[in-house]
Amino acid sequence: MTPPRLFESVRIGSHLLRNRIVRSATYEGLADADGGITPAYSGLYRRLAGLGPGAIVTGFAFVSPEGRSMQPRQAGVHDARNIVLWRKMNEEVHRNGSRIFLQIAHAGRQTRSEATGCEVVAPDGRASGYFGGRPRPLREDEIPNRVEQFVRAARIAQEAGFDGVQVHAAHGYLLHQFLTPATNRRRDSYGVDPLSGIGTKFLGEVLGGIRQACGPGFDCWIKVSHGDSLKNGMNPLRFESLLAFLQQQPVDAIEVSYGTMDHAMNIFRGKTLPLDRILEHNPRYRITSPWIARLWRWFAAPFATRALEDFEPGYNLEASCQAKRSGSIPVACVGGFRSGGQMDSAIASGQCDLVSLSRPFLHEPDLVRKLARDLGHEAGCVSCNQCAVMCDTRNPTRCYTGGKHGSIKR
Ligand SMILES: Cc1cc2nc3c(=O)[nH]c(=O)nc-3n(C[C@H](O)[C@H](O)[C@H](O)COP(=O)(O)O)c2cc1C
Repeated sequence: MTPPRLFESVRIGSHLLRNRIVRSATYEGLADADGGITPAYSGLYRRLAGLGPGAIVTGFAFVSPEGRSMQPRQAGVHDARNIVLWRKMNEEVHRNGSRIFLQIAHAGRQTRSEATGCEVVAPDGRASGYFGGRPRPLREDEIPNRVEQFVRAARIAQEAGFDGVQVHAAHGYLLHQFLTPATNRRRDSYGVDPLSGIGTKFLGEVLGGIRQACGPGFDCWIKVSHGDSLKNGMNPLRFESLLAFLQQQPVDAIEVSYGTMDHAMNIFRGKTLPLDRILEHNPRYRITSPWIARLWRWFAAPFATRALEDFEPGYNLEASCQAKRSGSIPVACVGGFRSGGQMDSAIASGQCDLVSLSRPFLHEPDLVRKLARDLGHEAGCVSCNQCAVMCDTRNPTRCYTGGKHGSIKR
């Protein structure tokens, strides 16, 4: 019998990964109010590393207070406050055999001033349908400073002993916002190029700046959305242009994801919608009156659920193949991997180089060990998405009920 490809070691950039399984970025909810990490945060990654993934990508860390998300306990890499704790944590992660990458992000228009204490900024003045507000378009002469925030964050991550960073250019955050006409109507050099159909100058400066500041031994991964459910947003043609652009950049791995926070459930997807949790906790849809909640359920929910993409196992695999075809940069595919057999065949058939998982690790942190014992193991995560909805609260991220509570069938 041929040994599973999933468990072969693989060189990605300058690092050897012990297997091809990545714990995808997952907001932890374990930092203090100023983005300082806590013992619980370090403990999470030390333990996870001991349980076998080839690489871990941390939850997104904000590169500046202005770039904070709405999640109240997000870690920050805007200054040096976490370096000592991160360094200790990373030493143990490495002793436990895993590689670790800090995900660095700026929320752009996907946040609110109440969360950041700053003005909300974006490529143009259009508000996100979900976050609302009135973002202030960044002036052309302000953008080098935002590039510098990403570069400084990467330098801090390097100092803190991470193996690299993952630049968050997916899920509708600032770098994603610059990419397509749905969110970028600028007329200056940071606008969308009519020939390629995308706006890459900001992203290119970030990637080039990181490589120049950190050198080639410090790897730079990127996470991108291949589509986003926005009119004039990311689509297969624009994604093709983005991939061609990335092949020319100092990028060590591309993680292929989907979506923006405007349609957040299309990032995660699931067979059910955790409506009770949403109505109880979501800052936009929170409803305290049981009567109004009932009306919402009857009349609004059917419309809200119509825009939801279906959950399919490995639902970003087709786009991952597109990324593989675009050149030689290794590709990680994230989204809906639940069975060992499917993960292994995605690798064996060349659809991706790495499989990346988030929710299954919340449900069973020892998933890699189980797969190593039995490749036929099926992850117990039922994609109920309560973990995702609860990111809006002050609670640490965890698996809630295995899907048994508060969900409605779509
Ligand atoms: C609770 C939760 C938190 C997440 N936090 C992040 C994050 O910080 N950065 C990011 O890029 N993606 C984040 N994601 C998205 C995941 O990385 C992943 O793209 C998505 O959940 C689909 O993969 P899965 O089917 O393996 O869960 C999060 C997902 C969940 C469920």
